[in-house]
Amino acid sequence: MSRKGTRVSGKGFPETTEMDRAVEGRLARLRSKLAEKRLDVVLVTNMDNVRYLTGFTGSTATAIVSKSDAVLLVDSRYTLQASEQCRRFQVREYKDSVLPAAACVVKEMKTRRLAFEADHMSYADHRKLRTLLSVRYYGALRFVDDLRLVKDSQEVAAIRQAVAISDKCFEDVIGRIKPGMSERELAIDMDFCMRRHGADKPAFDTIVAAGPHAAFPHAQPSDRILEAGQLVKMDFGAEYGQYPSDLTRTVCLGKADAKQREVYNTVLQAQLKAIDVVRPGAAGKDVDAVARDHIAAAGYGEYFGHGLGHSLGRGVHDGPGFSRTSTIILEPGMVMTVEPGIYIPDWGGVRIEDDVLVTESGCEILTGATKELLEL
Ligand code: GLY
Ligand code: MN
Repeated sequence: MSRKGTRVSGKGFPETTEMDRAVEGRLARLRSKLAEKRLDVVLVTNMDNVRYLTGFTGSTATAIVSKSDAVLLVDSRYTLQASEQCRRFQVREYKDSVLPAAACVVKEMKTRRLAFEADHMSYADHRKLRTLLSVRYYGALRFVDDLRLVKDSQEVAAIRQAVAISDKCFEDVIGRIKPGMSERELAIDMDFCMRRHGADKPAFDTIVAAGPHAAFPHAQPSDRILEAGQLVKMDFGAEYGQYPSDLTRTVCLGKADAKQREVYNTVLQAQLKAIDVVRPGAAGKDVDAVARDHIAAAGYGEYFGHGLGHSLGRGVHDGPGFSRTSTIILEPGMVMTVEPGIYIPDWGGVRIEDDVLVTESGCEILTGATKELLEL
């Protein structure tokens, strides 16, 4: 195992890209973890983790990393692409089935203790691997995922861009939301708008829910028609460079009544208070409690069931977040959502969601869309 896959430019200088440097940093952190756990090799099958470690953007690949080698196994659809994108990996093409190829690489690496992603590899694949490879297996949980909680500068830049796109989308569509359109029409408009502003795609299925339908926290846009006097909840995000944004805003079609205003302000104050305590060292469950206690004190405790937020990364829900049982302790570089809500059956609901970056001294709110109650 010797070829490192580093390409040399025409002028004889290695052309190191920002992605190459990011990958070097990620590999170094992974290798420290291997050493710490006295493991020889890790077999990475979760595609979010494969993409993170390698820079690959295709749909299918397997990464195998030891303290001195890094191999990426792809099928023929991706050989050329992976060779261009993953220059810190030796790219190898497999035919038909990846597990025998992976077993071969692991053997070449003279592995005694092999970590595999026990929270991802199927039971069937694991059984098959055992028939191909006689090593000591270590069923790792969140082995790479936890490295991803603290973002590097390349990741933060992508998230900032994704957030800028969803902010622009919100700014655009508030000029177009009108009674008489359906939830589905508005959702399609938002998806198209994000693409027009540069999104690779929507980061998840856009939620638009109006009136009583907004009481469903994760409503699917329907043919329901938006009516004057209704609250409209929109939860949407852009994916840019493999990273998402996640933004929720709730607006009122026309003048808000007293209850709509009270619920909205309760959610907003809960969110502002929670954001205020987001800083390095803060415990996820304490941040959750700040918002939850505020909502409970206002008399709406039974209407806020979900966690306050989640880690945002390659996946939209990318790991532990803010909840009653969270064990996460915040560190600089983590990106989290803060999204309290109140959902009242047969009445409707309000959620307000921002994405925040934990900094050395507190947090930066990345999302810029206004949180004033808009009466459109
Ligand atoms: N934006 C979808 C969610 O956070 O669940
Ligand atoms: Mn969210």
